Amino acid sequence: MALLDIKNLNVTFDTNDGQVHAVNGIDMSLERGETLGIVGESGSGKSQLAFSIMGLLARNGRATGSVKFDGQEILNAPLKTLNDVRAEHIAMIFQDPMTSLNPYMRVSDQMAEVLTLHHGLSKSAAVAESVRMLDAVRIPDARGRARLYPHEFSGGMRQRVMIAMALLCKPDVLIADEPTTALDVTVQAQIMKLLDDLQTEFGMAMILITHDLGVVAGSCERVMVMYGGRVMEKSPTDPVFADPTHPYTQGLLAAIPRVDQKGDKLSAIPGSPPNMSRPPAGCPFAPRCDYVMEVCQTTMPPLETFAPGRERACFAGIDTVRAGPKHHEDLPMEAAADDTGGMDIGDPEMNMLDALTDRPTTEEMADDNR
Ligand SMILES: Nc1ncnc2c1ncn2[C@@H]1O[C@H](COP(=O)(O)OP(=O)(O)OP(=O)(O)O)[C@@H](O)[C@H]1O
Ligand code: SF4
Ligand SMILES: [Mg+2]
Repeated sequence: MALLDIKNLNVTFDTNDGQVHAVNGIDMSLERGETLGIVGESGSGKSQLAFSIMGLLARNGRATGSVKFDGQEILNAPLKTLNDVRAEHIAMIFQDPMTSLNPYMRVSDQMAEVLTLHHGLSKSAAVAESVRMLDAVRIPDARGRARLYPHEFSGGMRQRVMIAMALLCKPDVLIADEPTTALDVTVQAQIMKLLDDLQTEFGMAMILITHDLGVVAGSCERVMVMYGGRVMEKSPTDPVFADPTHPYTQGLLAAIPRVDQKGDKLSAIPGSPPNMSRPPAGCPFAPRCDYVMEVCQTTMPPLETFAPGRERACFAGIDTVRAGPKHHEDLPMEAAADDTGGMDIGDPEMNMLDALTDRPTTEEMADDNR
């Protein structure tokens, strides 16, 4: 049995402009200890998917379908069940640390409060455990710094405090929603390395939400690509980079800066995501897709398995997509001259995955000791 088993999950919001269909018919699962990356452009429904799992949707939102944690239904569950799940089993870290940190309380007090309220620890045991956790997220002089207020930490250190806070309940699942977006590149790499290490150390499963496919390259075993609130592709991570078979994934890959690419222009996908208060009848990617056909305008392609562990939702043939986009004008100059559509799939010197993961490691960078 999967640790997290999600079936036909839909999230809608009531607004003055009508209903917003943020998440549409998602099926997904997460095994114990696994790392899953959820990738998609802004507005693709990533956060609302996470919020619905946590029971944290905004008041105008409604979720239908099924979310089972360890066999127990938690979607729209009573508050007591949700509080138990959030206190013991599933934790979430947010893009903005201040969302979950109280600016008026010392870090030690707010961390200890979680343990005294939810786990019945004495104040002194709770403070000791909080310091231990700050130490685990590599905050130098954790004991001394625990007495500081959140604003006295740098951005990177504040993110570490939030991760420590999420880990206090030793969750089985950690959902990290864009955990590094607000940070500079060096600190981003440190936090990603930290999450990797902690995941191994604590043996928890992790859902890493990001708009950057490059971020999942080094850290996730599987990836799920979302667009217009739907799953476009699910796959083990490596084949997505070596052999992209979905037009949207191809577009995301072409938009990632690569260490081996000297072209002066990145290939952002032309156009913008659909308005989810008027979702398209067919494939949501149709208006931006190089491979679009008539059927795409009227019918949503089903998600189908085409190789072990790999599923895609697309009417275009796999070999057609592998051959590359028909329109080359929007690709970087070097890529346009390349019949693979700029993916550099067969570069013997450095393939896409190597190019992305060949970034400096935390050890190679000065520690963020602010
Ligand atoms: N409370 C709300 N009321 C109405 N629409 C909402 C509400 N919250 C989110 N939405 C809409 O739901 C859709 C999905 O939003 P979501 O926050 O999941 O996107 P996302 O993929 O996380 O994007 P980003 O990368 O920008 O964080 C968007 O169209 C968004 O405008
Ligand atoms: S179904 Fe059609 S529009 Fe959608 S990604 Fe595939 S080819 Fe493009
Ligand atoms: Mg989001």
